[in-house]
Amino acid sequence: MLDFLRSQGIDESIINEVIAFRNQYPVKDCHKVRIPVPKYKYYGTDVWQKALTALLAGENILLVGPKATGKNVLAENLAAVFCRPQWDISFYLNTDAASLIGTDTFKNGEVSLRHGPIYKCAEEGGFGVLDEINMAKNESLSVLHATLDFRRIIDVPGYERIQLSPCTRFIATMNYGYAGTREVNEALASRFMVINMPIITADNLKKLLVTAHPALKEEYADQLVELFQEIRGKCDSSEISTKALDLRGLMASVKLVSQGLTLSQALEMGIVNKTFDDFERQLVSDILTARIATDIGREQIFKN
Ligand SMILES: Nc1ncnc2c1ncn2[C@@H]1O[C@H](COP(=O)(O)OP(=O)(O)O)[C@@H](O)[C@H]1O
Ligand SMILES: [Mg+2]
Repeated sequence: MLDFLRSQGIDESIINEVIAFRNQYPVKDCHKVRIPVPKYKYYGTDVWQKALTALLAGENILLVGPKATGKNVLAENLAAVFCRPQWDISFYLNTDAASLIGTDTFKNGEVSLRHGPIYKCAEEGGFGVLDEINMAKNESLSVLHATLDFRRIIDVPGYERIQLSPCTRFIATMNYGYAGTREVNEALASRFMVINMPIITADNLKKLLVTAHPALKEEYADQLVELFQEIRGKCDSSEISTKALDLRGLMASVKLVSQGLTLSQALEMGIVNKTFDDFERQLVSDILTARIATDIGREQIFKN
């Protein structure tokens, strides 16, 4: 991972601080399985620089952006770079103190606390990924206020009070930019350094495609990048919604071609059909047919 950071142009001084952090906080053997081994690497120098610097300074970070901007990929990459065990905590409407911190259970006639993910993360110096934090009700997140600010404690009535390990960090994610997204309130937002996640650049998208599919011919990688950029342009000018601007769908389409579908069949499933409005679907479909012949398949887009 450190060599990857160098290839992303991260300053050696930041990398040295990361190495010092790793050496200062070794991980217990029993938690080593929680240190992620990322399948995808995050591309984007500016975001890397901001995230690493904030975490080194002891801050928690909130990654805000549209779908498929690599928020979870980056969160996992960060835990890997810092060599920390990761706890993933998905937020939903009914997230409450019990699901985050723990619940009372009866064991041998005694009440004991079964520790929740926030508690474990706090104790073990983990990186806690607070996924889609805006999906929870703001009121139920107030139990995390003391955990996320300078107090760095878990102090909830009914539970024992604990201090966070010095290497515990929280990385929250939040989808933003389409209808129906909820906001986080100011009190919560003020406990994070906020990083706006950009949509991947054309250069980095090409790298991502050829890394995930080494046999993909360069000319087709370029075509797919151009297709994505064109859809992106239509979204930017509000001609279509962002539903079809789906990087996950693009990546999955290439995989389906390797398994035998034609490129246009796969992109129909991965991109075109993501929008459910007939008029919009036709627009996206037209972009596709203008660029990609219907009979192109595995033999054409992959080397040998
Ligand atoms: N800048 C980026 N660098 C690497 N991968 C990216 C980037 N942006 C998007 N992706 C890709 O998009 C897909 C979705 O990533 P994910 O982290 O799940 O998105 P999010 O959590 O923002 O919705 C993954 O395949 C990921 O590799
Ligand atoms: Mg996500």
